[in-house]
Amino acid sequence: MSADLGFVHRYLPGEDESSPTLLLLHGTGGNEEDLIPLGQELAPGAAFLSPRGKVSEYGAPRFFRRLAEGVFDQEDLLLRTHELAEFVEAASAEYGFDRSKLVAVGYSNGANVAASTILLHPGLLRAAVLFRAMVPFEPDLTPDLSGMPVFLAAGRMDRMIPPDNTQRLADILDEAGADVDLRWRDTGHPLTYEEVGEAKEWLSEVLPKLSSAQDRGK
Ligand code: MLT
Repeated sequence: MSADLGFVHRYLPGEDESSPTLLLLHGTGGNEEDLIPLGQELAPGAAFLSPRGKVSEYGAPRFFRRLAEGVFDQEDLLLRTHELAEFVEAASAEYGFDRSKLVAVGYSNGANVAASTILLHPGLLRAAVLFRAMVPFEPDLTPDLSGMPVFLAAGRMDRMIPPDNTQRLADILDEAGADVDLRWRDTGHPLTYEEVGEAKEWLSEVLPKLSSAQDRGK
């Protein structure tokens, strides 16, 4: 295995062994540094695993190819989602973080690859915060996401992500049994401070429950 586990990435250990790990997934044109300050704001003391998307769109890193804005190359999406899941597993072995406390935090393209990972690898992620997400693909089979906490933050005036598309993603996750918390704001594609605050509050309730589930030996 290559030294970078297949992805250029950063890993920052958490405060202690029981810390959760946030898988930070940037938007188009971002990199592995981008979301670290956001992660530190959302969950101080957590560990952070932050890969850089391997696809280049005219030099802008992404997690999978798209054919046009909002139109995804499904074959590439599938392949890249599996690659990301393998990376997460390899990183957990390399750095020794507890996979039962792994929470995805994604923005835009990063939120979309997180949604794809949730649908294709149920159980890999214990919870997710998805900012400006859309449906990555319509699943043929409904995965079992019973009780998985998912926070979605969407903008009614987002010109890249049609509101009904985010609503459809929330419905898919809900039908699969996830515990979906979808928050709407009169805002566009960029993330707002208010939403970060809401996600932080949401995580402060969700993260201790992940810990206690593990402490109970589940
Ligand atoms: C995507 O391609 O994943 C979405 O259109 C959002 C983005 O532009 O990153």
